[in-house]
Amino acid sequence: EVYQASTTAPVNIAVVKYWGKRDPKLNLPTNSSVSVTLSQADLRTHTTAACSSSFTEDTLLLNSSPQDVSGARTQACFRELRSLRAALESADPSLPKLSPLPLRIVSENNFPTAAGLASSAAGFAALVRAIANLYELPSSPTDLSRIARQGSGSACRSLFGGYVAWQMGSKADGSDSVAVEVAPASHWPTMRALILVVSAEKKGVSSTSGMQITVGTSELFQRRAEVVVPKHMELMTKAIQEKDFETFGKVTMMESNSFHATCLDTFPPIFYLNDVSRAAIRVVEDINRKAGKIVAAYTFDAGPNAVIYFEEQNLALVAGLLKGVLGNLDGWQGRDIEVQEATDV
Ligand code: DP6
Repeated sequence: EVYQASTTAPVNIAVVKYWGKRDPKLNLPTNSSVSVTLSQADLRTHTTAACSSSFTEDTLLLNSSPQDVSGARTQACFRELRSLRAALESADPSLPKLSPLPLRIVSENNFPTAAGLASSAAGFAALVRAIANLYELPSSPTDLSRIARQGSGSACRSLFGGYVAWQMGSKADGSDSVAVEVAPASHWPTMRALILVVSAEKKGVSSTSGMQITVGTSELFQRRAEVVVPKHMELMTKAIQEKDFETFGKVTMMESNSFHATCLDTFPPIFYLNDVSRAAIRVVEDINRKAGKIVAAYTFDAGPNAVIYFEEQNLALVAGLLKGVLGNLDGWQGRDIEVQEATDV
């Protein structure tokens, strides 16, 4: 007999960035972060989890290619989920004994993997929820975020729709380092995002190793974690609650700049932005200058692709100017995306 369950998880793009671990093993961050969950149908990972006594070992296929499941992150997720299932099975002996059976995970995503489009976030969020569904665990999104975090930090935020905070927590065991909802997507229905795929190539320095070199070498990073991010967290949470785009946009851009400044202050330096990224920043500045206020905000993760946040009423202005200036550059694509509603567990 084969037991199976499927789910999908969306990509999220941080507006207050996670960069730095205080505990690399448990994936505990040096600062809290906030993200917006994107809705586009093809910016999701679809995952099916199955288990059966006829399988010989745990396996994971990503876009049809076999992945190593022996890594500490995948193992941590499997172990946590199995132990929750084992607890259910010992409380209710009538349940089928799924926890000891080998798992077969099949994942598909159709956006550029590791191009700075947060594929690991959607990937681990979908993996954790697919297994939780398979095991019929009564876990909340916040419970699952604690597990997904151990797969990839940013994954903990992809278990919610809308506006999501990952609270860094202070406990050594990570039990309070979880994601919570700041506001549902319906709270701010005019919010939109546009992704400029500057390059779909795999990024140079992975976020996992990049952030550890930053933690070890950048003094600017310390100030960011201790002073800048706490201030931005407060401003951003309030801006979302009040639907104050000017503050939302300003903090989003200053956060992205602060994060990339610490990358440059890392030794040896890490460069994620390229000439096209910088051209996109200048176009957004032009848009805001023309509008006389902040109506568009750029943000960049560990790669050159830009995500531009704006409100629906400014779509023509934002998309028109971006396409006019960047449209004829190689490899550019734009996508207009809504914020994702919460998805079911
Ligand atoms: C720049 O979540 O990919 O996108 O925990 O090592 O898997 P690991 O890192 P990851 O880092 C994401 C970094 C970022 C900012 C963010 O999403 O908050």
